[in-house]
Amino acid sequence: MTSEWWRTATIYQIYPRSFADANGDGMGDLAGITAHLADLQELGVDAIWLSPFYTSPQHDAGYDVADYCDVDPLFGTLADFDAMLAEAHDRGIRVIVDLVPNHSSEEHEWFQAALAAAPGSAERARYLFRDGRGPAGDEPPNNWESVFGGPAWTRVVEADGTPGQWYLHLFDSSQPDFDWTNEEVREEFRRILRFWLDRGVDGFRVDVAHGMIKADGLPDYTPPAEGGSMGGAGGVEASAAGGSAGASAGASAGASAWAVADGASEAAAGVTLEPEISDEGDGAPYWGQEGVHEIYRDWRALLDEYPGERILAAEAWVDPLPRVAKWVRPDEMHQAFNFAYLETPWDAAALRLVVDASLAAFGAVGAPSTWVLSNHDVVRHATRLSVTEPNPQGHGLGPRSKGIPDYADGVHRARAATAFMLALPGSSYLYQGEELGLPEVIDLPDDARQDPTWFRTNGERYGRDGCRVPLPWNADAANYGFGASGTPWLPQPDRWASLARDVQRDDPSSTLALYRDALRLRREHALGAGSLEWLELDRPSVAAFRNGDVVVVANTGSEPVPLPDGTVLLASGPLDGDSLPADTTAWLAR
Ligand code: NOJ
Repeated sequence: MTSEWWRTATIYQIYPRSFADANGDGMGDLAGITAHLADLQELGVDAIWLSPFYTSPQHDAGYDVADYCDVDPLFGTLADFDAMLAEAHDRGIRVIVDLVPNHSSEEHEWFQAALAAAPGSAERARYLFRDGRGPAGDEPPNNWESVFGGPAWTRVVEADGTPGQWYLHLFDSSQPDFDWTNEEVREEFRRILRFWLDRGVDGFRVDVAHGMIKADGLPDYTPPAEGGSMGGAGGVEASAAGGSAGASAGASAGASAWAVADGASEAAAGVTLEPEISDEGDGAPYWGQEGVHEIYRDWRALLDEYPGERILAAEAWVDPLPRVAKWVRPDEMHQAFNFAYLETPWDAAALRLVVDASLAAFGAVGAPSTWVLSNHDVVRHATRLSVTEPNPQGHGLGPRSKGIPDYADGVHRARAATAFMLALPGSSYLYQGEELGLPEVIDLPDDARQDPTWFRTNGERYGRDGCRVPLPWNADAANYGFGASGTPWLPQPDRWASLARDVQRDDPSSTLALYRDALRLRREHALGAGSLEWLELDRPSVAAFRNGDVVVVANTGSEPVPLPDGTVLLASGPLDGDSLPADTTAWLAR
């Protein structure tokens, strides 16, 4: 593989519990991944990123880690991990694992020791324990709220049975935050990094990479209205994006990188968006504090000791984009997820702005831009891009939600959006199942839901289970081939038989074929390493660009537009003679 592989790579996210279940217990596992690596090689991805498979009580689907250096029995053993890694490498696929440094599980031995120890002890100093406010100490130390809803503090019972101190958890109460000003914590994570690097992993996706340092004194803070992104900055949450009613449908564009000049009327006139280029944060005392960056400089130096270009990829929900770019300065991480892109509606003007802002912001620090449309925290883009009512990120969709699109409309638009993304220069992330055109599962029964968001908001927010339903592999097999026996941990909809991988594999018009063709052409034409030049086609609904010898034309409007001359290399949907239908993207050789 070429040097600096990560600048152009297509990285496929595996959510292990929902990928493939080899032992038939209803939960995906590492052996299931190994068994399907051939499918991913056939798809044409360069690397996989695995969401957590470590020892965990699974209160947040494994993002609550009890032992960072072992595999949870649900997923297998370290030997299964080694076998998976070796097989992936044999197939030319790199492997990135998830690192969760902001918080551990409450079952981590350090947290258990902290609970057993006294206030002021070294054991408590690894986490953020504080005395409560009020005369009896029965009010939380500050007013922070958990990303999943409810207070960010939980009070413990001291060893003598009396109500005691409080500990901070920006997420679920089962996920206590570490105190990253404590050198012992830093040293422990160096050990964890080395443990996985020594095993041969190619890098780490770093969870909540913007959250590990909190402002001195933990001051009170009230975020702007509407919460819910995965540890997001206020501006992200306040947008209509995430369920973004497309600007073409008349709602505000609302991606985090933008200020919308005047919501509805501007949208009706064709959307006016001004990129915000300020470097100011939103002021949250727990997101994006300057102190996080020295941690990544330290980690980068550690990774650079290893051969083979191991990488760090930041999950940093901050905005605007120039602020995200701080995570990928030359001596810090290699990549940062581009959530501004993910949150952009399917609208030509908005896409042009976010692409320009991304290339400028990341380019300014010498980093590649990344592109992403789906992951395990957001509504799948086969649904999200066509939702017609605001749906803040993290809230999810369920039977009470409004503005849900028909499947056919949603997947048609999603295919066009993916074809646009995969032609952009830089590195793209795919989320398992999007290559099958899977939609969000809206009608999960209440008693099947497992996301802590659902419980912490008493069902007010559906949360993220709808994008986490186990994959369909074979239309005619039990559990659609996800596992030969057992009951999948989330129920698969009956209608998914027609989306199973084996049904799509030999159908040239399938979504799977589109992804496979796009990835092959992307490689053949070196699009990831290319550059972008916008083309003016004089149609407000069209975003068109040249990347090397490929011209990409996306029609985000509701009417067909003329297709420029050229040989069609790829089309996200059927073309109509010389015209490009609504919600369709074509790649042309010109
Ligand atoms: C971001 C992860 O992607 C999400 O799934 C998780 O719940 C939070 N971080 C907390 O770890």
